[in-house]
Amino acid sequence: MDKIAEITAAWGCHYHVDAAWGGPTLFSNKYKHLLKGIEKADSVTIDAHKQLYVPMGAGLVVFKEPELTREIVQHANYIVREGSKDLGSLTLEGSRAGMAMLVHSGLKIIGRQGYQLLIDMGIEKAAGFAQMIEANHHFELMTQPELNILTYRYVAPEIADRLTAASEAESRLLNEKLNRLNRSLQKAQRERGKSFVSRTILKPDRYGKQEIHVLRAILANPLTTEQILADMLQEQIDIVAGQNLHASLLEYAADR
Ligand SMILES: Cc1ncc(COP(=O)(O)O)c(C=O)c1O
Repeated sequence: MDKIAEITAAWGCHYHVDAAWGGPTLFSNKYKHLLKGIEKADSVTIDAHKQLYVPMGAGLVVFKEPELTREIVQHANYIVREGSKDLGSLTLEGSRAGMAMLVHSGLKIIGRQGYQLLIDMGIEKAAGFAQMIEANHHFELMTQPELNILTYRYVAPEIADRLTAASEAESRLLNEKLNRLNRSLQKAQRERGKSFVSRTILKPDRYGKQEIHVLRAILANPLTTEQILADMLQEQIDIVAGQNLHASLLEYAADR
């Protein structure tokens, strides 16, 4: 973020940080250094319905220079007339639910220390989950968590070593098969309804920027235990085996 701040300053651009997920890390004395440079931003998004743990619909933007909100000021003759002190003139929305009360309550009830506990717990649990994935030969950790989000994918143990040693063409082919497998796995797990991970697409350097479909896990629930995480990985292994999702990979391995 320091580097982006330097570039935006050099070009005279507005520097906005989308910290919708990570913003509340600032409440953690232990980990706030991970957001170093955010203090240089002109504006920052924080979603209270993510790591401030309030219900959906409480996104906010904080501005270093509050006057900047004047850029979107709007008036009408029947509402927020010129000179009105109604803050509604400074937003794009009109009437809205009283979500600010939930944010206010969270700050009072959970408070800085409570948020620090939740944030530290999420970051540390994600680090533990990453180690668990790395130690399991059915999976490949795709991104180490910087905060409490990580991505990984299922790889059939039979082809894991082959993938590391593969030529570019072979690696492309194996990754296409793995992409299909991981998409099917994520859907099957969701449909079972016992546990859920989301999925996304990355273009990692490790695979020459090929599109890789990965599972995405967010560790934010303080009630999630190590056992639950271990059971979830086992459930994924069982789904792949039970539905024979790795059939084409096994055939490929057997042919060579
Ligand atoms: C970095 C980031 N920005 C923005 C969003 C959008 O969030 P929402 O539509 O819930 O406000 C997300 C959602 O995950 C996000 O991770």
